Amino acid sequence: MSRHARHLDRSGPHNPFPGLKALERKLGREVPHRLGSNEGLDMPHQALKARFGDELATLARAYGDAEAMDVRQRLNTQLGTPLEALVIDAGADSLMALALRTLCDPGSTVIASAGTYPTFSYFAEGQGCHLVEVDYRDAPGVLAPDLDALAARAVRDNARVVYLANPDNPSGHLHRDADVLALRDALPEDCTLLLDEAYHDFRDDADAPAAGEVWSGVVRLRTFSKAHGLAGLRIGYAIAEPGLVEVMHKVRIHYAVSSLALAAADTVLDHPQETAQHVRDVIARREALAEHLRTLGADIPPSATNFIAVRLPEAELTARVHRELLDAGTLVHRPAHPALGHVLRISTLEDALEPGRLAALERALEAQH
Ligand SMILES: Cc1ncc(COP(=O)(O)O)c(C=O)c1O
Repeated sequence: MSRHARHLDRSGPHNPFPGLKALERKLGREVPHRLGSNEGLDMPHQALKARFGDELATLARAYGDAEAMDVRQRLNTQLGTPLEALVIDAGADSLMALALRTLCDPGSTVIASAGTYPTFSYFAEGQGCHLVEVDYRDAPGVLAPDLDALAARAVRDNARVVYLANPDNPSGHLHRDADVLALRDALPEDCTLLLDEAYHDFRDDADAPAAGEVWSGVVRLRTFSKAHGLAGLRIGYAIAEPGLVEVMHKVRIHYAVSSLALAAADTVLDHPQETAQHVRDVIARREALAEHLRTLGADIPPSATNFIAVRLPEAELTARVHRELLDAGTLVHRPAHPALGHVLRISTLEDALEPGRLAALERALEAQH
């Protein structure tokens, strides 16, 4: 039974512009005279050079490598993931849209947790899917996507895609791989688990062999926006079965990832120690902030990400604290979904630890005790 959209169940469409880099790899030699792709290769770029330096001007003039081979090779070396199981696109969000385009027909049922990272439902509805939501497990000590409920609903509604963020946004909860794979096993045969691993790099076991594994029936999404600090450049990758990656390429916008983003991803991947140190610093700050707020009585479920979730007794109070923080110049996140209206999500930057920065929250916590 085919997992992807029905109209993609044929040999085409074929990408009309695989690009010069792909041609060079196919020919096994360089093509030095680039007269076939109508870029502005002779643009002097005085202004760009003055602002950003020569290298950006050089990168800017030419289309990047649509196959992102250098990034994929680095990921292959570092994670062990086969090249043909890797697809690079303009961030995890773009990959999410790409996965939906690849997997769903209009009217396909997709399942998500009510209040999880909302881009999935936004894109799914924009594409004519039928969105079904299930509640979180929201109980003392735990705020987490409910894997049993996701599986049961997927079976009941014969879903095409189930979305799970792991670690989750906004709860920060990390499900163990074994539990995620048990969810995958419980889904209908032609249902794909869209596993959003945007915060993967903050996991304690981020370097374990499982990190690079291709899991059948699962599309794993990763990003360079978080641990690697490249959110503004828009680049991420997916790990999926080669057959599915091939179909994804049919509907991918082939030059969506800029040459600069590709070069930046190469550079950060070549300096893993800097990323590793950054992740350690973020985790130390996260734990310090959680500890500080817990001493004031805050209910903070464990987080495996670069943020904490603060669960308040009710939504009205949470909205008030959110507003007061904003009035004082501090934006934290309050999920728009009513199911998680009692949650505030706070990025654990150094700024969050500044004395007084979260004063409105601290006042609300102290007033409860
Ligand atoms: C769970 C989750 N997925 C995806 C994204 C977006 O990632 P990207 O910047 O790579 O599109 C975010 C960003 O907040 C996120 O929290």
